[in-house]
Amino acid sequence: MKLAVVGGGSTYTPELIDGFARLRDTLPIEELVLVDPAHERLELVGGLARRIFAKQGHGGRIVTTSDLDAGIEGADAVLLQLRVGGQAAREQDETWPLECGCVGQETTGAGGLAKALRTVPVVLDIAERVRRTNPGAWIIDFTNPVGIVTRALLQAGHKTVGLCNVAIGFQRKFAGMLGIAPAEVHLGHVGLNHLTWETEVRLGGPEGENVLPKLLAEHGDAIAADLRLPRDVLDRLGVVPSYYLRYFYAHDEVVRELRTKPSRAAEVAEMERELLKMYGDPELDEKPALLARRGGAYYSEAAVDLAASLLGGGAGSPYQVVNTYNKGTLPFLPDDAVIEVQAAVGPKGPTPLPVPSVDPLYAGLMAQVTAYEDLALEAALRGGRDLVFRALLAHPLVGQYAYADALTDQLIAHNREHLAWA
Ligand code: G6P
Ligand code: MN
Repeated sequence: MKLAVVGGGSTYTPELIDGFARLRDTLPIEELVLVDPAHERLELVGGLARRIFAKQGHGGRIVTTSDLDAGIEGADAVLLQLRVGGQAAREQDETWPLECGCVGQETTGAGGLAKALRTVPVVLDIAERVRRTNPGAWIIDFTNPVGIVTRALLQAGHKTVGLCNVAIGFQRKFAGMLGIAPAEVHLGHVGLNHLTWETEVRLGGPEGENVLPKLLAEHGDAIAADLRLPRDVLDRLGVVPSYYLRYFYAHDEVVRELRTKPSRAAEVAEMERELLKMYGDPELDEKPALLARRGGAYYSEAAVDLAASLLGGGAGSPYQVVNTYNKGTLPFLPDDAVIEVQAAVGPKGPTPLPVPSVDPLYAGLMAQVTAYEDLALEAALRGGRDLVFRALLAHPLVGQYAYADALTDQLIAHNREHLAWA
């Protein structure tokens, strides 16, 4: 089996490699190609990747290249984990929206739109090249904003599944609290990427006992502290929102906080400098502890699980949380919306499991953000100030024309070098 990772020079890659090494029985990789235009960085990351494989006795070959077409040739699956403009562009996304009193975040709100506009054309170009070189290959998209990027890929007819680590993170956390194996925890997970709620926590599988009420009663304080939301709010909702919902439920509080501290991009850039220094040490042969301070925990395990199911052999978990077409799963959203839910995954792709009826409290927000994502994708594909304005006006965290106008100007001004039409 051959896998290619586009954006393989990411400082996150050792997390992925560590998972590939530990879980090699689930996903037997013979060749792993790390593709990245940043040559120097790629060599540092590639060196550590080889040492991790060697230490863990993984016989697979790791190849590094800056040549995309050569890298994806013959790959059974291509993982996309790129960041157009790097942390510098992210820093902008997290900063200028604050001037209008709106949250500055890499995937939520106006910053997320900027990221979508920069990213969609690049990803579509890569996917076209994958289709040309090996049309059978699966594209696993980790590239944010995952909902919009996955929809762009699906709409263009690519064999794609979008993936995020939020669900697997909750699964691992809840399993720890309950003192059971992660595979025993089946989440009722519903929403759009980075806009999800855990509405059930079932034991053993989709038909098992729902222990969410018990979990909230016994561990509500810890869960609330983690999400930085009041315990009492969780108790009233009776579900566990992802931490991205804090940008909605505590928007103004978040804006006040963000205004007084360095951006997450600045923090991450600092960590990346340190990480790259460590990766250059020929003695280092495991993922460093510092990597745990990044947000990507368990993404390797989610990737292994998904790739194992898509590529056949039946080694992956029977149900996995993925981003895919709605197709009637959530009747209040269009069929071609991309949703994030539990699905049965096999070599033909994911089939969402039925979802119990969704409380209007969550369905309403999902519908509004779906409309935003629709308009955001249109803006990413066609460009132009008017479409950017429409997407921002539709976003529940913007919504007023004066803000939408000001944010449109800022977005364009800060992203000219990445937007062909600007
Ligand atoms: C979580 C999200 C990812 C996001 C990451 C950011 O893992 O699911 O989509 O990219 O956090 O983490 P960072 O360490 O870059 O802030
Ligand atoms: Mn994510």
